[in-house]
Amino acid sequence: MKRDPVLTARGVGKTYVTGGGTVTALSPTDFSVERGEFVMVSGPSGSGKSTLLAIVSGLLTPDSGHVEVLGQDLTQLSRHQGDALRLASFGFIFQRFHLIPALTAMEQVSIVLRRQGLKSRLADVRASRVLEDVGLGHRLKNRPDSLSGGERQRVAIARALAKRPRLIFADEPTSALDSSNGRQVAEMLRATALDEGTGVVCVSHDPRLEAYADRVVRMEDGCIRTEA
Ligand SMILES: Nc1ncnc2c1ncn2[C@@H]1O[C@H](COP(=O)(O)OP(=O)(O)OP(=O)(O)O)[C@@H](O)[C@H]1O
Ligand SMILES: [Mg+2]
Repeated sequence: MKRDPVLTARGVGKTYVTGGGTVTALSPTDFSVERGEFVMVSGPSGSGKSTLLAIVSGLLTPDSGHVEVLGQDLTQLSRHQGDALRLASFGFIFQRFHLIPALTAMEQVSIVLRRQGLKSRLADVRASRVLEDVGLGHRLKNRPDSLSGGERQRVAIARALAKRPRLIFADEPTSALDSSNGRQVAEMLRATALDEGTGVVCVSHDPRLEAYADRVVRMEDGCIRTEA
């Protein structure tokens, strides 16, 4: 396969200084994602998975190393430039959905598109289409408290997909879901990588999801141990 990296991290590391001493959450590490590749990051609790994800998505500044995304060095961007890049090109999916309680499913998705500059009618049309794609066409007007866990996570996925991001970052997106909803989420992420050429980085404890990934990166004690 021709290499076409959408994200390349070199030597990224992070040590936290706490009251009780220092914790090396991530030893200097290389990590990359190709266009259309679904990469899973697995490993025990505390092994540095979320730290790696936060660094390569620009949410956390590493102590060392660089992260290049779409020709830009994330570690050199101002806060404003980083926010703008994330809004334009990254989708995020978290374990606990991070939906806004007062908004309907449609509003959760369309608000992001409006923030990107889409006119409100267009944003609504695209939001409802993406919600239909994730099987929620009949839930457009529901707020999070009237949706199941699986439905909430599908709203969060629709919110991430609607802007057609170049990269999706997901941290334990299935761990609050039962196995059938978890599989559906993994299938959607895989389809997005395949159909849209989106690079997907997904942190998960769940070995059942590994079958969906193109590549599995295993972490232990802040280091990448093996790649399969
Ligand atoms: N803000 C912080 N301050 C101090 N230590 C931290 C901080 N965030 C993470 N750590 C420590 O860094 C290490 C790696 O944490 P990280 O959250 O990346 O692990 P993880 O693999 O995502 O774990 P989990 O599977 O439990 O989510 C752990 O030892 C953790 O306690
Ligand atoms: Mg974590």
